[in-house]
Amino acid sequence: MMTSKEKILHRVQLGSDGPPIGAQGLGCMGMSEFYGTTDEAESRATLERALELGVTLFDTADMYGIGANEAFLASFVRTHREAVLIATKFGYARTPQSPEDWSIDNRPEFLRAAADRSLKRLGVDVIDLYYMHRRTDAVPLEESIGAMADLVAAGKVRWLGLSAVTAAELRAAHAIHPIAALQSEWSVFTREIEEDVVPAAFELGVTLVPYSPLGRGMLTGQAFAQSLTEGDARRNFPRFASQHHQANMQVVAKVEEAARGLGITSAQLALAWLHMQGRKLNAKVVPIPGTRRRSRLEENVAAASIILPDDVTAMLDPLAGAVQGAAV
Ligand SMILES: NC(=O)c1ccc[n+]([C@@H]2O[C@H](COP(=O)([O-])OP(=O)(O)OC[C@H]3O[C@@H](n4cnc5c(N)ncnc54)[C@H](OP(=O)(O)O)[C@@H]3O)[C@@H](O)[C@H]2O)c1
Repeated sequence: MMTSKEKILHRVQLGSDGPPIGAQGLGCMGMSEFYGTTDEAESRATLERALELGVTLFDTADMYGIGANEAFLASFVRTHREAVLIATKFGYARTPQSPEDWSIDNRPEFLRAAADRSLKRLGVDVIDLYYMHRRTDAVPLEESIGAMADLVAAGKVRWLGLSAVTAAELRAAHAIHPIAALQSEWSVFTREIEEDVVPAAFELGVTLVPYSPLGRGMLTGQAFAQSLTEGDARRNFPRFASQHHQANMQVVAKVEEAARGLGITSAQLALAWLHMQGRKLNAKVVPIPGTRRRSRLEENVAAASIILPDDVTAMLDPLAGAVQGAAV
């Protein structure tokens, strides 16, 4: 239930011809896989609460839980079909029969079949935003984007998106069919896209959707190698490796100190920074922090309206250079 004091998220246009969407989305991946124990009831309540607070973009992929995440979201999406913008992705060959197969497949026949499977699992007639999850040079870009454009023409998909591509790939794809959104890792700790991908997105009117905006939880100070439970995929990520623990703890401590000084949480500082960075770089930015808990969702949504003082953004500026270990 909304209370009168609650702030609703401001809106940002999706691409050049898409609808206005809540300026923060919700990453749903962890509700089914990768980040430890899941809790379906609390996850479902988190989805409902997100919608109440103005979140409209809900992010999944066919490979999250090997279809389980899309299937989990189906009843929520169907119940709120007009209000929810459901984004899903194709590109990994992973199946229940081959869970360890993370090879990338961009072939037209593969993505056509993948789209049909996602439509069926989500129980919808149309996917609002359909991303190519990863790109491989094995298939010419024109073939994959052409087949994605055919899905739009067939009414199975509304808008197209790409994930983790270069500025040149974004431009080439956009020349074939308008790309509404680009999803890439972007946070206080991971800033590679700022150099040429962000300017290209601005020039083309593409909305940027930063994934892992909390550094997969690391930035919040609450997810460290030692506290990650058995089966948590982050135990295998270089950035969470024990040899980088001490150095990264020091960087996280600086974020915590700055947040404490402002009376906000580290997660809020990280998200507020992304919104401010978007304004500074002229980018339309819709981060998709992932959480399975209502309390954190509320905390994260509130961050979208926090303005950071210049001395704090200046202090955060060099931190990405001090973080040890690759993001993935
Ligand atoms: N395109 C791609 O290749 C790609 C790659 C990775 C992710 N994604 C998408 O991006 C979404 C977000 O990325 P992500 O989940 O990897 O990382 P993230 O959003 O940076 O961090 C998620 C982690 O932070 C925790 N968390 C969230 N809010 C918090 C808060 N206020 N305080 C403390 N901890 C908090 C979550 O735990 P709880 O759930 O327990 O709150 C979870 O462990 C994913 O859900 C997925 O949809 C896309």
